[in-house]
Amino acid sequence: MRLIVPIAIAASYLVCSGHALPTFEEQRPFLSKGNDVNAIADFQLEDSTIQHYNGHQLIAINATNEHELSALHDLRERLALDFWTPLSLDNPIQIRINPDQKAQFFDLLPSSTNYSIAIPDLQLFLDNQAKLNFETTAIRKEFEKFFTEYHSYEDITAHLDELASQHKKLVKRIQIGTTSEGRPIYAWRLHKKTKQPKSTKKHKKKSHGKNMLSSWLEDLSDNIAEWFESAADIFNPLDEDEDLYEDEEDDYQVMKKKKKQKKAKKPMEIVINGGQHGREWISPAVVSYMMAAMLDSYDSDKSTHRLLKYFKWTFIPVLNVDGYEYSQTQDRMWRKTRQSFENSNCIGVDLNRNWDFEWERRSGYDSNPCSETYVGTSPFSAPESQALASYIASRKRVISYLDLHSFSQMWMTPYGSDCRHEPKDNEDIVEAALHAVKSLKRVHDKQFEIAPVCRSVSETSGDAIEWSYTKQHVKYSYEIQLRDTGSYGFLLPPSEILPSGEEMLSSIQNLALFIRSRDGKGKKGT
Ligand SMILES: *[C@@H]1O[C@H](CO)[C@@H](O)[C@H](O)[C@H]1NC(C)=O
Ligand SMILES: *[C@@H]1O[C@H](CO)[C@@H](O)[C@H](O)[C@H]1NC(C)=O
Repeated sequence: MRLIVPIAIAASYLVCSGHALPTFEEQRPFLSKGNDVNAIADFQLEDSTIQHYNGHQLIAINATNEHELSALHDLRERLALDFWTPLSLDNPIQIRINPDQKAQFFDLLPSSTNYSIAIPDLQLFLDNQAKLNFETTAIRKEFEKFFTEYHSYEDITAHLDELASQHKKLVKRIQIGTTSEGRPIYAWRLHKKTKQPKSTKKHKKKSHGKNMLSSWLEDLSDNIAEWFESAADIFNPLDEDEDLYEDEEDDYQVMKKKKKQKKAKKPMEIVINGGQHGREWISPAVVSYMMAAMLDSYDSDKSTHRLLKYFKWTFIPVLNVDGYEYSQTQDRMWRKTRQSFENSNCIGVDLNRNWDFEWERRSGYDSNPCSETYVGTSPFSAPESQALASYIASRKRVISYLDLHSFSQMWMTPYGSDCRHEPKDNEDIVEAALHAVKSLKRVHDKQFEIAPVCRSVSETSGDAIEWSYTKQHVKYSYEIQLRDTGSYGFLLPPSEILPSGEEMLSSIQNLALFIRSRDGKGKKGT
């Protein structure tokens, strides 16, 4: 069921910019909808619930000094502006302003500031883009067809389920949680199980025959470890529906089998998510693409085959499902979740400020529910960040966590909240990122910049990778800003999905190979 709150976004917008909220009676015409409403009325109703951007402009500024930055910072808080890019001296700053904010914005902007109007009317831009036929990248493989347009969460889920059903032995779907509006958050886990050859044990016993005691101790400790592992698997509530795509075997048989086989050492894990922010459509598309491409090349490509054996891969295309759906149906620019709060008419949490590390440290404006970067009422107050955090915490062997966003082509490392410190694994973290970025560039010649979050997004706190690195010791934790560098920004045309997916796939595969060579089979690190 989709919960549609008509003109909620328009309402929250008005509140933020100091206008009176429409009364419930004023909203009623949009809310009541009988079954006998004819098609025209239907169309009008739909139209009036959709957020329009007439007269909204995108301003681009090349800030040249700290004074300008701090003035922009103040403006952001005072007018609740929507910044599309971080405050920075190195890259253009893009800010969306609505018609009501315009006069005040230019009044308060330091006169020295050089600005240009990147998009004179956002609604025109949106309309024109919808009409344009972007040239699609040549489709070379059947599986690529799905990635020539953006899809609803329902369609993404159905498609990945279909792929999973074609690769039952490789893929499991898990529900990691439920959004504040009640939608399931799904993850797909890919792994090729390796069976320990039966001969290994005998061979070992023979060759070490003279040392019976140590061999017996080895077996004993293996058995104990094995017992703990299967106990953990059984009692782990997150794995409840793990067996969705398993062969039909009852638990008892699985247990017996597990006991018989000497269990192979569990592989390291890589967790990748997109869609913490609704409007960043390219990230769910790229996460789904990577999963689809790995399944597609599994049979033909030895290196994919190996990567699925070496690692367990978890793909979560959309974390903020409500926000993503809302951006698809009601408001193209929606970023936050759709959680509501008792004391505010503004809706939604910025998921990537809600993680339990240094939460609210950079608060101020971000504690305002109307802010685009609202941190929430407490760490993990959003069910979506809580869901992914619990999942990562339940998987003890996660060596890499990748959080995909858009836009600006950056490969970002911890920390976010404090630039005075760097992670103790920083050398390895940066070296791995260099490998990733280099292989990414080889595919379509796109350059991604490597920098800590605190430098590239200005200092933030409560973000996902900082939490995963510090609290879960996930050594290779990265936040990645995908294409482009601002020409289309969040409105990246669907023709960019395939190339963007291809370059990211190459980069994560090389990242994984680097991790395997550097960290071997075991999880070391922090
Ligand atoms: C603003 O831009 C103009 C030309 O584009 C340039 O001559 C001028 O120096 C710039 N001003 C600042 C403060 O950067
Ligand atoms: C900002 O810098 C870019 C190059 O980095 C330039 O293309 C653009 O015109 C500049 N904008 C302004 C307003 O000076």
